Amino acid sequence: MTQDSSKLVNNVRRPLAIESLPGSDWLLPFERNKNPQLPLQPAEHASTAMAAAPLPTVGDTLSPEEKASALARLNQSEVSSCQKCPLHQTRNHVVFGEGDPAAGLVFVGEGPGADEDATGKPFVGRAGELLTNMIHAMGLDRQQVFICNILKCRPPGNRNPAPEEVRACWNYLIRQLEIIRPRVIVTLGNPATQNLLQTQVGITKLRGNWQQLPDIGKGLAGILVMPTFHPSYILRRYTPEIRGKAWFDLQAVTQELGLTIPKKI
Ligand code: URA
Ligand code: SF4
Repeated sequence: MTQDSSKLVNNVRRPLAIESLPGSDWLLPFERNKNPQLPLQPAEHASTAMAAAPLPTVGDTLSPEEKASALARLNQSEVSSCQKCPLHQTRNHVVFGEGDPAAGLVFVGEGPGADEDATGKPFVGRAGELLTNMIHAMGLDRQQVFICNILKCRPPGNRNPAPEEVRACWNYLIRQLEIIRPRVIVTLGNPATQNLLQTQVGITKLRGNWQQLPDIGKGLAGILVMPTFHPSYILRRYTPEIRGKAWFDLQAVTQELGLTIPKKI
């Protein structure tokens, strides 16, 4: 863990004035984000905060162009036609993941839902809308981060990933992370958190506290991980407490990456 991140660990329990936090519009009741009087924070703030400074990544061995082509090759030659587990029989689209191949920040979810299966894109349904708002609240755009899942195909009925499905798909996620080599990974919910950290400890205990990746791939050991709630869980329990905790976790990430949280508009 870097010096900076250990400082953050000590700061993690600061009390929060949730609704007054700058940039926290996504915390307000969901409907308000749809109100044209209160537009979603657009990407402008992200470009002012971020244009000059791409998110730093760790121990880079590949150039951004090489990362882009390595990811594209992995997708085209293996993942897009994968039949390594039974989920290939029921899927409509494989959801590889998308975003900046050289992103310093990667979000890892659970697996595609109905909207993702229909489009082939990660986090585009209602949970995806919330995740997008969360990313905007951090002063970033979806294109500046990378978004993917533990499973690349939808489990029927959105059931939890089965262990053998996770095992079958695991190598794809590891190779994505080995190519991208982000500074920080945000794990969304239990399956992403427990699999990447190789732990049985639950998200309620782990969230808000910096963790580090175990040695699960080349160059991956020690990468900082911030576990937080899955957006679907936040939608189901849309309380100030749950939203405040998730926002708190994301703020720690913005600090670690040296980003400025945009002012409220
Ligand atoms: N939930 C996830 O975990 N991933 C998605 O891509 C969409 C919803
Ligand atoms: Fe292959 Fe993963 Fe899809 Fe299973 S979930 S078929 S392992 S890409």
